[in-house]
Amino acid sequence: MSKPIAIAIDGPAAAGKSTVAKIVARELSYIYIDTGAMYRSITLKALENRISLEDEKMLSGLLDDTSIELIQGEDGQRVLVDGKDVTDEIRTERVTNNVSDVAKHPTIRKEMVGRQQLLATKRGVVMDGRDIGTHVIPDAEVKIFLIATVEERAKRRYEENLRKGFNPDLETLKKEIERRDMIDSEREAAPLLKAEDAIEIDTTSLTIDQVAQAILTEVRKLDKE
Ligand code: CDP
Ligand code: CDP
Repeated sequence: MSKPIAIAIDGPAAAGKSTVAKIVARELSYIYIDTGAMYRSITLKALENRISLEDEKMLSGLLDDTSIELIQGEDGQRVLVDGKDVTDEIRTERVTNNVSDVAKHPTIRKEMVGRQQLLATKRGVVMDGRDIGTHVIPDAEVKIFLIATVEERAKRRYEENLRKGFNPDLETLKKEIERRDMIDSEREAAPLLKAEDAIEIDTTSLTIDQVAQAILTEVRKLDKE
């Protein structure tokens, strides 16, 4: 690939965004930016500070005083909040089940989108989230919207939890995914939405590698144009 581009990957929870985004970034030697980690970071800090997740003004003030760094390490991406490594803490069930309530606030989104746009000023980037193709990088050269049935997505999270040594309940995971998808899709500010010019890939019966290859094929098509 000659000229570096921006690749936006959006979609609902557990559609496979971060897994394939990392593979695509590695293949192209691009940087990967996980925007969900940024919303998770401020949610963790709000929970730790016992701030009401409905109090947009307090949350917004908290975010203004918070540094969030995404560091590309040898063992993947590390997330630092005010210099402290919170990579694992932001993946807990507590954060996962509360993050959409923080991410729905317009002032929080405005600040996050600004920070994400700064991270994406240089091309050669793969960014995943919910509003990357619609708001964060609307001029991304390649936009992908990943979907999969909620049953398949819950099964993926279930297996992921088993691998981590937890004892998950499939029905509970499914309900949590549905609840989060609903808040993300129905919020007024930059809801989860496929950009008009995004390519939709149904990953329900595809392997991780098949999805990554499909995206790389779209990227390589640009070289031929
Ligand atoms: O990995 P998973 O899909 O479960 O979640 P994530 O990508 O880490 O995103 C966590 C939450 O952050 C989402 O459910 C959204 O509420 C919010 N988010 C968002 O609103 N906009 C983004 N660009 C990324 C995440
Ligand atoms: O980032 P997002 O929430 O969209 O999903 P993810 O965290 O990348 O993927 C959720 C889980 O599904 C991971 O454990 C992946 O290994 C798995 N996965 C899969 O089984 N098949 C795919 N085509 C994509 C992801």
